[in-house]
Parts: sequence; structure tokens; C-alpha cells
Amino acid sequence: MKIELVTGDPVHQKADLLVVGLFEGEIKPGGTAGSVDAAVGGAISAAVSDGDFKGESGESLLLRPGKGIASPRLLVVGLGKKEKFTVDHIRQAMLPVLRAAKKCKAKTVATVLQGAGADGFDPALCARFTALGAVLSNYEYDLYKPEKAHRVSRLLVVGNDRKEAVGVSAGLKRGVLLGEAVNWGRDLVAAPPADMRPDSLARAAKTLAGGKVTVKVHGRKELEKMKAGGILAVGRGSEIPPRLIVVEYRGGRKGAPWIALVGKGVTFDTGGISLKKWEGMDRMKYDMAGGAGMLATLRAAAALEIPLNVVAVVPAVENMPSGTAFRPGDVLRTMSGKTVEVLSTDAEGRLILCDALTFARERYSPSEMIDAATLTGACVVALGSVAMGLMGSDPKLVSSLVDASAASGEKAWELPLYEEYFEQIKSDIGELKNIGGGEAGTITAGYFLKEFAGDTPWAHLDIAGVAWREKERMGYAPGPTGAPVRLLVEYLERAASER
Ligand code: BES
Ligand code: ZN
Ligand code: ZN
Repeated sequence: MKIELVTGDPVHQKADLLVVGLFEGEIKPGGTAGSVDAAVGGAISAAVSDGDFKGESGESLLLRPGKGIASPRLLVVGLGKKEKFTVDHIRQAMLPVLRAAKKCKAKTVATVLQGAGADGFDPALCARFTALGAVLSNYEYDLYKPEKAHRVSRLLVVGNDRKEAVGVSAGLKRGVLLGEAVNWGRDLVAAPPADMRPDSLARAAKTLAGGKVTVKVHGRKELEKMKAGGILAVGRGSEIPPRLIVVEYRGGRKGAPWIALVGKGVTFDTGGISLKKWEGMDRMKYDMAGGAGMLATLRAAAALEIPLNVVAVVPAVENMPSGTAFRPGDVLRTMSGKTVEVLSTDAEGRLILCDALTFARERYSPSEMIDAATLTGACVVALGSVAMGLMGSDPKLVSSLVDASAASGEKAWELPLYEEYFEQIKSDIGELKNIGGGEAGTITAGYFLKEFAGDTPWAHLDIAGVAWREKERMGYAPGPTGAPVRLLVEYLERAASER
């Protein structure tokens, strides 16, 4: 989708569909929406006063004014309550826009710059979220559909403040680049598990190479040399051997420290010998969403030219039951030297991430490590699909991630890693065991990872509840969401501006 800024009056803008936004409880639309309302003879304010439209977040109303504006259709979208407005509401409002555009087969959509009517919001930032929301909402995984999905090819953002034009254009551009990177990651997650095995994920990562990005893939032999006992064990049941995917982006000064992003890349999680039940197992193709997210974050960092050195480390395995699979009761010697007793082969994520964290630490001595993983079903119970779980060893890193979460709109909620939880993962036969019993499953999984972070500032995102959506909610269509790419890109941009 091409997105561009056009200056002028939206009333005169020719497009298949014109979009204006309205806050909840705004009886008489002001600003640009007000002038559009006047041009269509008060059709918008009439819809509000008649109760046809309230302005709630996610709401939309399609009008066919007939005359008054140059576009045949007018879509009013809700931005929610003005007091609760954040720029992420702009992203959310773009989902009904693109859905309406698809329904009426609109190729060109014109929109006023959303959110600019709220006081104190930077137009460039509003532009970024408008473009981001449009690109994300225009996405559909249609590889296996008999007919290609309808897509909007042009979005015209109509503004009339020439002073803001440079910032707004730049904001639009950055929103598009970010949205495209997120969608690239969503494609990897949406792909059927037979199309996305450890070798295919590695191949996908290789397409990122070029410019300041280099990609290295370590196969089984190298993993053996590295003594990656966790990754090798989990990967042993599959006919496709595991890979360790390492992507470097050198956007920062030479010699500036690395930021390491580690992502769980279980391309399909059957549970292994501790086999999952059949219901919902198909979903476990998204068990590589953390890995895909880290790769997509690197893609975004490179596209946005964030001036930092960032490395993504993605252990890619397929967790399968077979005659060669690892077993409950096995004791693994991980890359760190720590031994781990396997009590369930379904708690495999932590077994590959511990080696990836050790690898990142030993090879890159990073200033900080952040991992993302669809790690526990318990996190879905605790936080649902509203927020991801956040844990960490370094209060400053955690609070920076909380700030980035608020600014990006990708919600993250901190859970405690109290020492008392350690008891639950102590093993009788080895050092650690890979499950912590029934209680606090998300925290004991996080605690397990912490044991491998050493003294490197580390944080962990459990994205099990937010990486895939069953139902439309919060401006997300069902399917892969691309979490936590937007949060991490925001984190990196902020980190870059501070150092
Ligand atoms: N990939 C799953 C976690 C998961 C569950 C992600 C549901 C998304 C939705 C993970 O590997 C797993 O199976 N975890 C177990 C851990 C348990 C055996 C301690 C779980 O959550 O049940
Ligand atoms: Zn599992
Ligand atoms: Zn898993």
C-alpha cells in the first residue's frame, strides 16, 4: 500500500472512501470532521444525535452522502473517549477502515490525519500510527485462499497544515516501514507448520541479509560443538535438525555494545513424548512467534536505521514425538554447563532458550538481553489476550520496557521473580527441573530463564496470550498479531536516543 500526504481539504479529495474520526460523546464534530459534516449537510452529527454512532473505539458507520464531498462514501470511525485517547487508538481505528474498504472494494482511501484533533498529540506521531494501523489492517494471509484478498493500494492522508508536512510525511514513512516489518513476521507465524520448519525459518531469516544485516545459521554439527544440550534434545524427535539462527544488525557505532534479542522458535509444538491433546494443537504453529518477532524487529531496526548494534538469536526446533525424541526423566547438560531434569517434554521452550541466552551472553557480551516466547499456557490464564507477561532481573530494563509498552500500545504487565519461586524448579537429580509444579507457571518458567542470564541485565516477555488472536479485539484481526515487535522497536528507538 502506498501512503502519502496530500494537502488540501478532505471535502474535495477524490477517493473511493473518505474517512473521518470522532471521539466518543462528541456531539458536534469539530475541526476537519466538522467541515466534512457541514459539507454533507450534517449527516455525521445527525447520526450521532440519533444514536446511530457513538464514537466508541472500534465502531464505524458507513454513509453514502450522495453530494457534498468528492468521494462517494464516507466512513466515520470511533476513537473512543477523548480523556482515554492514546496514539494506539489511531491504529485500532484503522481496522474498521480497511474492513469497510475491502467490503466495497475500494482501491484508494482518503483519511484525515487521525488524532490530530486531540490536544497535545504530535502530528508526526499520529501520522506514524495512522500508517502503521493501515498497513497492519491491510494484511491478510491468503496464500492458500482460492482468491487473493482485496487490498487497498493507496492511502491518502489529507492534511492542510503546511508547517507540519515534513514531520507528518516522515511519520507516515516510518509507520509504513514498521508495519511492513511486523507483517513480514506475521506471515512466518501464519504459515502452516509443514511450511515453517527449522530449516524454513532459517531460510526466511536469510532474506533479511544485506546492508548492515548479516545472517548466520548454525546446524546440528555446530550445535554439538557448542554443547547446546537443550536445543539438541528438544530437536531430536524431528527429522529436521534444529538450527540456531543469528542475525546481526550493525546500526550503531563500531565497538558499541550489542543488545541481544532472543526468541523462541519452536516451529511446531506437539508437546513431544508428553504429547498435547489434539484439540487446539494446530495452533501450536505459532510457537515460533517469539523468534519471528525478534527477526521482524531486526528487519524494522534496519529499515528504520536505528543507530544501535542489535543481534537476534533464534533457536529453531520442531518438538516432535518419535523413537529418537528426548524423554521425561532425561537429564540434559545445557550449554551453560547447568544440568536440567526433564519432567515434561512439553516445557521445551525454556530448554532451547537457556542455550540461546548462554550463546548470546558468551558470544556478544550484550549490554542487555530481552527474550520473547510463547512460553506458558499459564500466562494466557493470568493475563488473557490483553497484555503479555514481563519479567526481568534488572529494574531499569524492566521499567524501560514498561515505558515502551505504554508508548507503543502493546501492553505488558510485570510479574515478580521473587527468590521464593526458585524452590519450585530445584531438581533432585540435576540442578534445575523444567517444570515448577502447578502454581505460578509463568513465573517459574521466567525464573528458570533468569538462571541462565547470569549478571547480564535481562528481561523476558511471555507472549503466549497476545501473539495469536482467536477473535477480533483491540484493533487486531484474528490470527497472528506481530507481538512484540512494536514494543521492541519503541524500546530500541528510545534506547538509541538515550545513548
Ligand atoms: N508452547 C507452549 C505454551 C503455550 C500454551 C503457548 C498455550 C500458547 C498457548 C509451551 O511449550 C508449553 O507447552 N508449556 C506448558 C508448560 C508446562 C508443561 C509446565 C504449558 O503451558 O502447559
Ligand atoms: Zn510445549
Ligand atoms: Zn512451546
